[in-house]
Amino acid sequence: MSRPRVYVTRRLPQPALDIIRPVADVTLWDREDVPPPREVLLREVTQVDGLLTLLTDRIDGEVMDAARRLKVVSNFAVGFDNIDIPVATKHRIVVTNTPEVLTETVADFAFCLMLAAARRLVEADQYTRAGSWKTWEPLLLAGQDVHRATLGLIGLGRIGSAVARRAAGFEMRVMYYDPFRREDLEQNLHIDYRPFPDVLRQADFISVHVPLSEQTRHLIGREQFALMKPTAVFVNTSRGPVVDQQALTEALAARRIFAAGIDVFEREPVPAGDPLLVQENVIVAPHIASASVPTRIRMATLAAENLVTVLQGKRPPNPVNPEVLNG
Ligand code: DGY
Repeated sequence: MSRPRVYVTRRLPQPALDIIRPVADVTLWDREDVPPPREVLLREVTQVDGLLTLLTDRIDGEVMDAARRLKVVSNFAVGFDNIDIPVATKHRIVVTNTPEVLTETVADFAFCLMLAAARRLVEADQYTRAGSWKTWEPLLLAGQDVHRATLGLIGLGRIGSAVARRAAGFEMRVMYYDPFRREDLEQNLHIDYRPFPDVLRQADFISVHVPLSEQTRHLIGREQFALMKPTAVFVNTSRGPVVDQQALTEALAARRIFAAGIDVFEREPVPAGDPLLVQENVIVAPHIASASVPTRIRMATLAAENLVTVLQGKRPPNPVNPEVLNG
């Protein structure tokens, strides 16, 4: 039997390639700065048994229709909204993701954005470097306190729970909204369930931790920002389209909320001229919440393991559509 072939859509850390190469012949898109163009993806997919993809690769019906022998799409991310799962299942293609290994790192970054936005860290850095600092002033760059404030989590999955654990160290009161109430976690984490509008009204910090789906697209828009406190700090490390970015920009510009820390955007990369980037009270990052060196290596090696186990006819660690394996 000939060796399986795989297409890997970006240069990966070496330990991940070391997992794949003994099992399959690898073709690699080896530019770091851009994803493979659509026509390259559509051409390569016709030849391979496996794809290792990033969240920037749209794996839809067109791609899967072009794939004659594709068995697995291993996504290098916990989120898999870039892949049409029902179509993959129809084609009997296993889709996998990389949960767990990034949970704590993303939670660290959500907290980092909360602290940095509340305490105006980026403004302070720019002010100091620019030589604007003339004297100590009572309200110079004064922000909001994180300790003992109320944190509202939108979504209480793995990452939301990890943020709640960190909040305990800051003596925060934590409330959450999730369509699936988790009474077991409420007790363990000492947090309270509240209806969605109540979380928005009562929280000093609001951090979003939901996957992107048709139900969560624009979950936070004008109406939701209008409910928040004028002192509220809003943080998004989930997916950009969960938030109506124009509504966020308006809320920041009108100081309807105090500040925001934003790692994800409706369009990525966010265009340089986007009105959100002009606001002084927002801290932005280029979708790097999981980007610590150890975590990115763990994500890469897990994506590689998911890929090769399917190619070896075994059950992968993280199937997204396990019905394909069971059927
Ligand atoms: C994911 O894994 O879904 C992130 O957005 C990138 O870490």
